[in-house]
Amino acid sequence: MMKISCLNPIAAVGMQLFTDAYEKVDDFSASDAALVRSASVHELELPDQLLAIARAGAGVNNIPLDKCAEKGIVVFNTPGANANGVKEAVLAGLFLGARDIVGGVNWVQTVKEDPNVAKLVEKGKKQFAGTEIMGKKIGVIGLGAIGVLVANACVALGMEVYGYDPFISVDAAWNLSKDIKHIANVEDIYANCDYITVHVPLMDSTKKMINADAFAKMKDGVIVLNFARDLLVDDDALEAAIAAGKVRKYITDFPNAKTAQMNGVVAIPHLGASTEESEDNCAVMAVKELRDYLENGNITHS
Ligand code: MLT
Repeated sequence: MMKISCLNPIAAVGMQLFTDAYEKVDDFSASDAALVRSASVHELELPDQLLAIARAGAGVNNIPLDKCAEKGIVVFNTPGANANGVKEAVLAGLFLGARDIVGGVNWVQTVKEDPNVAKLVEKGKKQFAGTEIMGKKIGVIGLGAIGVLVANACVALGMEVYGYDPFISVDAAWNLSKDIKHIANVEDIYANCDYITVHVPLMDSTKKMINADAFAKMKDGVIVLNFARDLLVDDDALEAAIAAGKVRKYITDFPNAKTAQMNGVVAIPHLGASTEESEDNCAVMAVKELRDYLENGNITHS
């Protein structure tokens, strides 16, 4: 009987797709295939009999792809399965950039026991005034499943949307709204946009792509959103750009020891795809892909 391990829990609906043909084991070293959510596989010894690893999620930077390729281990991911969840989190981030909702919520906590709280509201109202996003320019860097959903949603919000992808021509992007300005190079986004949101995978070529050079080309007071991967942004350059007033806010789903303490940073704990729906979709897709490979030899999203 084929042995499958789950390196960290996936949604129950995915687990139910295992049949009697599979034995769930806790020991990775004894498994023929593995499912993983966000746990890192880099530190683990890859067992010789391992045939495949399926990641319930889009990014595969938690999996040692080179080592898997050397050993003939097929790696799957689930592109698109959590794209709507991430898109909705990015939209929340966009509003957190425009309005100081976080400041306002925290402030109410500080006055909540004051009997005059209703009167104090007028003070908070002035202190936490914001801006509107309609009519503002946003650059979407990366037009995969998530980037396209974000770009189209921003069109619907009345924003002027610029789309750029370092790997594909914008014309080739699937289902992209015709209202999106097609940009051939990322500099045009840096020069024009009030908001910049990054949706590329983390690879050697994209690591620290938002660096001092990129910040220098951006508009003063730009708001940068990162719901893709922490290491796409150079933290030292970000700190300098915030201090210089170049970046007004950095909204990130990936706080680290440095950014979590920086002024001008609004950070949430990798909540992008943390929705019931996305967890279910990813788990189901990952298990189906794994089974299709183990039972039929079919390889999808590898
Ligand atoms: C992904 O890679 O799919 C996203 O970062 C969401 C996640 O892993 O939770």
